Formats: sequence, structure tokens, C-alpha cells
Amino acid sequence: MKKLWGGRFTEELADDAKEYSYSLAVDGELLAADIRVSTAHAKMLAKAGLITRQESARLVGGLESVLKELSKADLAALAQEYEDVHTLIQVTLEKKIGKTAKKLHTGRSRNDLVVTSVKVYLREKIALIRAGIVELQKALVFLGEKFSGVAIPGYTHLQRAQTVLLAHHLLAYVEMLERDGKRFAQAADNMNECPLGAAALAGSSLPIDRAATARELGFARPTANSIDSVSDRDFLVETLADIAILFMHLSRLSEDMILWNTSEFGFINFPDSYATGSSLMPHKKNPDMLELTRGRAGAAIGNLVALLVTMKGLPLAYNRDMQEDKKALFESVRQAIRSLGVLSHLVRKTEVNEELCYQATTDSLLYATDLLDYLILKGTAFEDAHALVGRMVQHSLTIERPLKELSFSELRQFSPKIEKDIYQVFNPAKSLAGKKTIGSTQPALVAKQLKFWKHKTAKKR
Ligand code: ARG
Repeated sequence: MKKLWGGRFTEELADDAKEYSYSLAVDGELLAADIRVSTAHAKMLAKAGLITRQESARLVGGLESVLKELSKADLAALAQEYEDVHTLIQVTLEKKIGKTAKKLHTGRSRNDLVVTSVKVYLREKIALIRAGIVELQKALVFLGEKFSGVAIPGYTHLQRAQTVLLAHHLLAYVEMLERDGKRFAQAADNMNECPLGAAALAGSSLPIDRAATARELGFARPTANSIDSVSDRDFLVETLADIAILFMHLSRLSEDMILWNTSEFGFINFPDSYATGSSLMPHKKNPDMLELTRGRAGAAIGNLVALLVTMKGLPLAYNRDMQEDKKALFESVRQAIRSLGVLSHLVRKTEVNEELCYQATTDSLLYATDLLDYLILKGTAFEDAHALVGRMVQHSLTIERPLKELSFSELRQFSPKIEKDIYQVFNPAKSLAGKKTIGSTQPALVAKQLKFWKHKTAKKR
């Protein structure tokens, strides 16, 4: 086939050069977005008097049938014949409606077409990611509410630290996801300017109406600088950064759940429908979905770095390097949507082993900090109290008896400030109820938070 846009060439592109440079196998994903953009462009061309109403209608109808035909086609099978999805659409349109198709590309370039198509595509995907974030928030709130009375050890350095409510721990992820949602909303807002009509880089001498196509495609306004329009991939970097941060959170949630599901912790059980067996060890129930999420976070972060490095040395305006942005983008977007979906289902179906959680919270050492506060409230200076509790802990470990099982006279030896009420310090429920500060794990506050988030996430969809 003769090269499209190939007037100035005497030779066809070499086979290996084709194979090396053609991108249809990847950017076929932009099919529907390109058709939307092209349709808006075709409508505008008639209003601008550059083509007739009949020609415009023919283009619009033709694009519709191209979309129908190509959405059913195996684009990967055409990947060696057409340079990219934009070329494929153009050629298919010519086959369908004949020479009128040759007018579609009036006043535009693939440089502004590709970037506009990616924005149109991404807007929709960001909406899906945001919906997925809300679903996961809902699932976490659901699990927190279902087991609202359950306390677990909270950890620092993965060492038992202090008793917290399970719901409080889960709500920590709800907060992270809320920030993620805001970041995606901001990214969508930042990309809300239409680059179409920037043409190759300089704008156009034809009377095309950029405001009209921007409006038709639902953008707030046309971009202000034609060179920036075709060379900008910030919106893509931003989305990839937001996805990388989201995945960092999903990965940490996965890691917590993987740990909690081990025999060593035993706090939770997830459903068989989200676990897998071992090919050799018949007893195994493996957390593969969580491990895959944790693993895919690696690619999500890598995709961000790959694009940043691709872009950092490019002179203005368009360079073919920028074709490489799409593979990373599509992969990150796809994995973000899938991971949010699978995690939401898994979290909702997770069961909590209340007895084992309770057992874990009876460890006296979890209350060393409460003991410290107890002594401070009885009038001991912080540093003295800290040293004192340190000695008590050391003693308890040496004689291999938990603090709460020492007799009153044994405890009293450490300080005359210690009174009979000391034993309350080791009570998990009392410890939780004693937390006073804003944002703490006090059950009344956590219940309020659960209610707040339940309400807020219900309103979002
Ligand atoms: N497939 C190309 C890309 O994604 C389309 C733009 C091509 N423009 C060009 N001047 N070669 O970047």
C-alpha cells in the first residue's frame, strides 16, 4: 500500500522500520476516543465553511460506521499494515465513504489529534478509577462496621505497639484513598483544556474554530499555546503519578492483609473465592490476589519513571519519542481499575477471627505506653515514668511473667505512686476508651468516623 501522507517519498518504509515504529497494537485502545475527536472536528469544519454540510454529514456517518466495524475487528492482526490507530481510521473511512474522507484531516495534524484523543480517553478512565476508589472505601467501611468492636495490636516497626480498633486501622486506608480521589480529580481538572486545532505546532491559517471543538468535546476551553499543546504530556505524567501513589496504598493494604492472614497473626480469613492453592502443598491457601496487587505496584511506579525519563530531554514540540507514552499509560490505568475492583470484593468478603484478635490484645506489653500515661497522671515526670516502665518491662521479661499478672506488692515496689487501679491499665477496652485526642482510636470517635465515611461515600455514587 502507498504510504499515507507519503507524497514526498519515493520509497516505501522498510519492513523492519515498519515493525519497529508501528503502534497500532498499542494505540488501538484510542479507537473510540479518536472517533469522538474526529467527529467533533468534522462538524466544526462545516460550520467554519471549510467543507459543505453534506460532506460533514458524510464524514460523521462514516466515522460512526468505522467505529462499528473496527471495534469488532482484531486490531492486533492489522498491526503490521497500519502505522497507528489514526491512520487506520483514516484509511478505513476512505474505503467506506470515498474521496470526502480526504477532507477530514483539514486544519489538524496527528500531533494535536493524538494528544486530544488521549485526553478524551483518560477523562473517562479517571472517572472509572475514582468510582473504584469509592467502592474500595465503601468496602473498608463495611468491614470496619461489621467488626466494629474488634481490637487488634497496632504495630510500629512491625513490633506490637499499642491496641487499636481494627476499624481504625481500616479507616486509615479510607483516608489515603480519599486523598487519592482528590488527586485524580485535580488531574482531570488540570487536563480540561482542548489541544485540538494546535495542528502540527504553530496553529492553523485555516478558519477552524477551536472554541467550538473544545465545547463539543466537553473541555472547559482550548489550550492557550499551540506549541505547549502538542508537546505537553504533563497530564499523563500526573495521572501516572497519581496511579503510582494509589498503588503504593493498595500495596500496603495488601501487605497488611497478607500478614493478618498468616497463621502467625491469624486475625483474618479471606474467602476461598479470592485465594489459591499450592501445586504441591495441599494445606495452602495463598493470598495471590493481594500479592499480585503488591507486585503490580512495581510496574505502576516504573511506568511513571519511564515516562518522566522519556520526556525530560525532549526539545519542543512533538517528537516521536512521545509515542512511547501510551503503553505505560494504558497498562497503569488498566491495572488500577482491576486492582480496585478485586480488592473491593476481597475486603468485603473478609472474615475476622475475633477470638484470635482478642487473644493478641491481652499482651501486657501493648499497655506499656498506657502505664506510662498512668504514672504521669499520678504525678511522675515523663522521663522518670519512661525509665520506670522500662524497668518494669525488663523485670517482667526476665521472670517470664506478664506485667498484669504481677501481684500488687510486686508492682508497688517500682513506685509508691502505683495504686490498685493499675490493673485497669491492662484492659483492652479501657485502654481504647481512655484515648482522648482527636483522631485517636477511641471507640466513640471511631464510630463517628465510620458513620461519617459511610454517609460520605454513599453520597459519592
Ligand atoms: N502514533 C503517533 C504518537 O502516538 C501519532 C503522532 C504522530 N505524529 C508524527 N508527527 N509522526 O505519537
